[in-house]
Amino acid sequence: MARRAAEYRAQGRRIIDLTLGEPDFAPPVHAALAAQEAAARPLGYTPANGIPELRRAARHALERDRALSYTDAEVAVGCGAKQVIFNALFATLGPGDEVIIPAPYWASYPDMVRLCGAVPVIVPCSAESGFRLAPDALEAAMTERTRWVVLNAPGNPSGATYSHDTLAGLAEVLRRHPSAMILSDEIYAHIRYGEGEYISIAQVAPDLRERILLVDGVSKAYAMTGWRVGWGFGPSELVRRITAVQSQNCTQTATVSQIAAVAALEGSQEVLAERCETYRRRRDAALAILRQSRHLETVEPDGAFYLFPRLATSDDLAAADTFLEAGCATVPGSAFGAPGHLRLSFATDIATLEEGCRIIVATLDGIPA
Ligand SMILES: Cc1ncc(COP(=O)(O)O)c(C=O)c1O
Repeated sequence: MARRAAEYRAQGRRIIDLTLGEPDFAPPVHAALAAQEAAARPLGYTPANGIPELRRAARHALERDRALSYTDAEVAVGCGAKQVIFNALFATLGPGDEVIIPAPYWASYPDMVRLCGAVPVIVPCSAESGFRLAPDALEAAMTERTRWVVLNAPGNPSGATYSHDTLAGLAEVLRRHPSAMILSDEIYAHIRYGEGEYISIAQVAPDLRERILLVDGVSKAYAMTGWRVGWGFGPSELVRRITAVQSQNCTQTATVSQIAAVAALEGSQEVLAERCETYRRRRDAALAILRQSRHLETVEPDGAFYLFPRLATSDDLAAADTFLEAGCATVPGSAFGAPGHLRLSFATDIATLEEGCRIIVATLDGIPA
């Protein structure tokens, strides 16, 4: 849809693009300055697993934000959270292995699993359940072939987070299936609108620590998607295998990006709260418009920067086409395993966002935008 929106724009048509999956902010100034300074020095290769300063900064940030401690040998650094996840799956999956993926999901998970020759097992989670995986649904999906269970909170595209109790319920199920690993993708942990601290399954179930890969990075929190720095915390044997895969595909993530990531993690964190507040204002403005439509039901997201309304029609592909023709690009829910929904990104300025939402509501309800 983003590509089609760009084509329409090239033809001179005005298209509001609500498909974006990345922050519309610049990186923190101290990160950009650290990169500028580093780029003028001779920078060679780094260890496949990144510079020690980055592993240390990532560990300290996790201690600071989520009160979880890991050793240096328990951190894997890659070209974004995406590569760490791919490396982990590639290092552990074989033909016929199964990976449980709650839907709606980030579209990359099932494709990565298939690329590794394994089988994605999709577990639908309804809007009524707040798009959260329930413990009994997890239990029903587990088999002796289950190698990984994916948890992503705040979720892309749902924005849903998990309560302590739900995570405890999921952990109870996971204890009964000791051969399954848990991939906790926490890349949006800093973009949340609720009260209180982020809760990771690694905090709720410390006894499962040796089975959890907790993934994070600078992309979303620090608006550094293009810098390609992410990491995972997990058992040292898994980290060793992830690093082995890393070293034979792209060696390491860019040295200058690693240095900028250290600065982002160690510098002032004020920008995180400021940006959350901006996202919250955008979310509320968009919700206020979308909720005027009789044809949309929109759950308020707890985090991330997406709205995921349910359409009155089940044909989300046709709906997204209609909205594009009317001037607003969105992503159909089918791309995330949730037909009948639409993903709207609010990683864009409020005026543009409101205009896009008005186009959608006007198109659905037959009223002028
Ligand atoms: C849920 C989720 N995980 C991981 C990523 C990838 O993050 P990175 O840029 O660090 O590879 C994204 C990016 O869209 C995402 O939405």
